[in-house]
Amino acid sequence: MGRFTVIGAGALGTLFAVRLSKAGHEVEVVVRRAERKAEIEAAGLRLTDAVSGSEEKSARAVIKAFPRVRLWEEKEAFGGKDGSGPHFILLAVKQSAITRELGLELARRMGPSAWMVCLQNGIGHLETLAAHVPVERLLAAVTTEGAMISSAGEAVHTGSGTTWVGAAGDERGEVSEIAQKNLVYWLQLAGFSASMSKNISSRIWQKLLINAVINPLTALLRVPNGELLSLPGAGELMRALYEEGGTLARALGIRLEPDLWEQLLEVCRRTATNRSSMLQDMTAGRLTEIDAITGGLLREADRSGIALPTHLTVYRLIKAAEAGHRPCRPNIID
Ligand code: PAF
Repeated sequence: MGRFTVIGAGALGTLFAVRLSKAGHEVEVVVRRAERKAEIEAAGLRLTDAVSGSEEKSARAVIKAFPRVRLWEEKEAFGGKDGSGPHFILLAVKQSAITRELGLELARRMGPSAWMVCLQNGIGHLETLAAHVPVERLLAAVTTEGAMISSAGEAVHTGSGTTWVGAAGDERGEVSEIAQKNLVYWLQLAGFSASMSKNISSRIWQKLLINAVINPLTALLRVPNGELLSLPGAGELMRALYEEGGTLARALGIRLEPDLWEQLLEVCRRTATNRSSMLQDMTAGRLTEIDAITGGLLREADRSGIALPTHLTVYRLIKAAEAGHRPCRPNIID
């Protein structure tokens, strides 16, 4: 059985931790605050299936508090003492938590058989981490699993999706191929639909374009994903954002599936009652991931001399809305 460290007990972190733990793996969950650790320990890590209503509880997961940045003094590596076989660190924190400081800390705590698996929306995090974590130890994961946090330690699984795993530096794929196979196999045994991807950048970009359409619009209009399909004017805005993103991706040589627009509409239908992660952040007064999603597109567009006027407008609106909700709580590894 495998060893997993899940960093962040948000919706995705909890979903993966409970399923992997139930499948018999050794799982530790790392949260930033001691109070959150105590809450989760008291209530247990739980996963509720939104469709069947059944509850899965993980009795096996060990929960550790990740000390605050200035208190990161303990020398302990993630996953305990280095054992046999790979140790996967699932990084399930928000983009905004991925800083140089976090990269340095993770690199210091990774044992020699550890692989870092990044589950973030948006772009930019892999470059930040690769400055500290050896790139051949970095795996990117793109998931379409739907989950929401309902209370401390409790996630609701709102829709099954697929998780693709690939090497963060595409050319290093062969170095991590055995680890990728192992990870995919264990995810499948834990009940996930998972596959290896030889072209993970393309998967990352396809999810990026979907997030860059759904997330800011739902956050600005304050509606669940499905309502974008019926609100007057929203369809035109979605299409404009999609077209601009597609033009940029093609200019950068990124391959997009021909039915990506259909897939985007299908995500809205399949997650119709979900409140997007950006809407949830905005409602809770947290900083959103706009800099990694729309901001990521705008940075790439700037480098290529391409204008993305609709994305720029949406970016400014979200920034203004975030500022209007002051004081913004920084995103944390909860
Ligand atoms: O960020 C999100 O909320 C999700 O990635 C998605 C696909 C937009 C569904 O809510």
